[in-house]
Amino acid sequence: MKLVGPADGFNMALAERLETELVEVDRRVFPDGEVSPRVVIREEEDLRGEQVVLSMRMRAGEVRPNAYLAEVLFTAFNLKVHLGAEEVVVVMPYLPYARQDAIFRPGEPLSPLYLGRMMEAAGVDAVISATVHLHRMGGMGEMLGEIRGINVSGVAGLARILSSMELRDPFPLGPDDEAIQWAKELASEAGWRDYASFKKSRDLETGEIVTEEVDLDLEGRTAVVVDDIVSTGGTMANAVAAARRMGASSVVAAFVHPVLVPGSLDRILGAGADAVVASDTIEWVGSRATVVPEVADAVDRVM
Ligand code: R5P
Repeated sequence: MKLVGPADGFNMALAERLETELVEVDRRVFPDGEVSPRVVIREEEDLRGEQVVLSMRMRAGEVRPNAYLAEVLFTAFNLKVHLGAEEVVVVMPYLPYARQDAIFRPGEPLSPLYLGRMMEAAGVDAVISATVHLHRMGGMGEMLGEIRGINVSGVAGLARILSSMELRDPFPLGPDDEAIQWAKELASEAGWRDYASFKKSRDLETGEIVTEEVDLDLEGRTAVVVDDIVSTGGTMANAVAAARRMGASSVVAAFVHPVLVPGSLDRILGAGADAVVASDTIEWVGSRATVVPEVADAVDRVM
């Protein structure tokens, strides 16, 4: 088995866990934004007949899901069709477009389904991702059709870091109904007794978010607001502010995927977060938690 991907800390750690060497991908980008990822091989034959794990992450901050998808799809196709890999397992720790998991208004695209078809066309055999936001579809199975999909926990890594911090009687809170599953998972992973969630509504036209406080006693406790994704930071900031108003002595913003569009972090800190804990599913300098152990286990299971 060969691991292929950019030579970053994530892939170095994954290579070590899988006890294999990393074949580097050079993420070349042309001045107009077109991508040209090159698999750095010595001979055309290097990967022929191999089982290959392609591991690439999106970068935080910039709006680059489209460029990221092009890099992954082109590299998978290249590995399978031109470089002759026998099997291509793709590690995409954050799966872009999974949030568009329903047609909310007539005429909208069911984006994850189309992405699944594109992966099939690129010759992908399996996809490993973390805490995938496919609540309204039948999970990765419906998205990927014949391609195998493994959805590992991104919350477990958050729990490892949060458990090592000095928190006062921590209380995990999801910022909306949907996120109660993350609060529950975090409580269970970290061995904390309570968990709950706020109620949130979002205007589909304007994107404006309203978060309702809940009847909980947070006096003297650390509220850990936990979500899968932070993009604009609006959902997280509202929940952090609500936890503050409810009397929490400190508030930690914890999330799996630091999509973090510009301004989002300031919004969260400005709302009163004392600390931010995010995982490394996306390349971001502030990531403290890791999904590498869960991804390595999934590779072992799928190969
Ligand atoms: C929503 O369904 C997700 O779980 C996140 O709560 C949402 O994507 C966060 O978005 P934003 O940071 O833009 O509020």
